[in-house]
Amino acid sequence: MERTLVLIKPDGVKRKLVGEIISYYERKNLKIVDFKLIKADRETAESHYIEHKGREYYQSLIDYITEGEIVTILLEGENAIGIVRKINGATDPLQADSGSIRGKYAYSKQRNLVHASDSKENAKREIDIWFPGI
Ligand code: CDP
Ligand code: MG
Repeated sequence: MERTLVLIKPDGVKRKLVGEIISYYERKNLKIVDFKLIKADRETAESHYIEHKGREYYQSLIDYITEGEIVTILLEGENAIGIVRKINGATDPLQADSGSIRGKYAYSKQRNLVHASDSKENAKREIDIWFPGI
């Protein structure tokens, strides 16, 4: 079965959308393998977003991800990577499907509530960062 990594970003936790967001994945029959409420340190956030290093938004993205608690979720299911990207919706909430999490609840391209792995390679890399040893 395919596995993917989801983060509920600090705005999702602050806005009390954790239950709502997790229920999207559960209703799609994805299995929660593990999850945690944590505050990410800068080093971990930087390694998670390594591909974005050098972009103009990189520092503010790291500030955002480390500003408060996040929920890390390890999900499993058939086509989990693609399915979860679809449930989350496009990066920019103005482009996101209205039925997606971002389409429904996000209002900013940066503060867009959720992260999900975009490929098998990145899913493995990100799961190793947030759930080492699983
Ligand atoms: O999260 P997703 O894979 O949809 O988007 P990305 O293009 O891989 O960018 C990662 C994250 O960086 C986004 O989810 C936004 O939080 C942030 N970002 C930003 O602040 N400004 C941009 N122009 C693009 C992305
Ligand atoms: Mg991405």
